[in-house]
Amino acid sequence: MKFERQHAIITGGSSGIGKATAQLLASKGCQISLIARTQGKLEAAKAEIEAARASPNQRVLAISADVSERMQIEAAIKSAIDQIGPPDLLITSAGIARPGYFQQLPIEVFERTMAVNYFGSLYSIRAALPVMEERQQGHLVLVSSGAGLIGIYGYSAYSPTKFALRGLAESLRGELKPSGVGVSIVYPPDTDTPQLEAENKTKPLETKAIAGTAKTWSAQGVAREIVRGIEKQSFAIAPGLEMTLLERLHSLIAPGLNWYFDRIAAKVDRVK
Ligand SMILES: NC(=O)c1ccc[n+]([C@@H]2O[C@H](COP(=O)([O-])OP(=O)(O)OC[C@H]3O[C@@H](n4cnc5c(N)ncnc54)[C@H](OP(=O)(O)O)[C@@H]3O)[C@@H](O)[C@H]2O)c1
Repeated sequence: MKFERQHAIITGGSSGIGKATAQLLASKGCQISLIARTQGKLEAAKAEIEAARASPNQRVLAISADVSERMQIEAAIKSAIDQIGPPDLLITSAGIARPGYFQQLPIEVFERTMAVNYFGSLYSIRAALPVMEERQQGHLVLVSSGAGLIGIYGYSAYSPTKFALRGLAESLRGELKPSGVGVSIVYPPDTDTPQLEAENKTKPLETKAIAGTAKTWSAQGVAREIVRGIEKQSFAIAPGLEMTLLERLHSLIAPGLNWYFDRIAAKVDRVK
């Protein structure tokens, strides 16, 4: 896929993985529309992305919207299309995560996480898809997580939202094929971003110990894998060996992984 003069709409593009992907795509010639809530973060990211552009003619838009509010995200995507044109790429990176013990997490956390991570992605896709189908071209990139492949201790509010995205991507892949619209789903490992920093504040000790078994990636490293996956038109984009094995073999290796993670959790429990 050639990125020059293409239009990429990126929800959650003002921070972390979304921002790093926006920067990389801008350096390859893409025009970018960033969508997130906080205007200040959006403007700062816009300046960073403009600095990474291949040419000053590439436009970068910063549009404020809450993806969980259907009318807001529909209006944001319409505005991006009106200003730059139909999107060639939609990357749904906007997401939240609040780890904690199941019984201690307020019910609102479960509801909000599903509203942002799942319905926020769904509304974005529904808003961008008609113009992609009309042109018989476009690519949807849904950002799930390693926690969307196996449920992880402490992620009872988050994992299901990322599983739901996997179900959506798998359903859409076949359904959209005849219309020329591609679908990818990304399973990032732990990535050094403001989200991970916030998660670390509420992560149960057991979750920390389990997460400590895998390496933490940089947002730029994950962005490189996302862009490479789009170029190769890969359906599943799993950065690194651990995520690749998990993506290919998750059902097969889940019993072994569960045994291993249970031992880690029990060890933490004993010293608590
Ligand atoms: N970091 C990791 O370890 C990791 C691992 C696996 C998967 N992921 C997934 O990767 C994606 C990006 O995460 P990240 O780590 O890059 O997070 P991040 O740095 O916190 O960025 C999240 C982005 O989403 C936006 N956002 C959050 N809630 C929103 C809402 N309701 N409406 C619109 N925008 C919203 C944020 O801006 P505002 O707050 O201003 O709206 C920000 O731009 C998420 O879907 C996350 O679940 C992350």
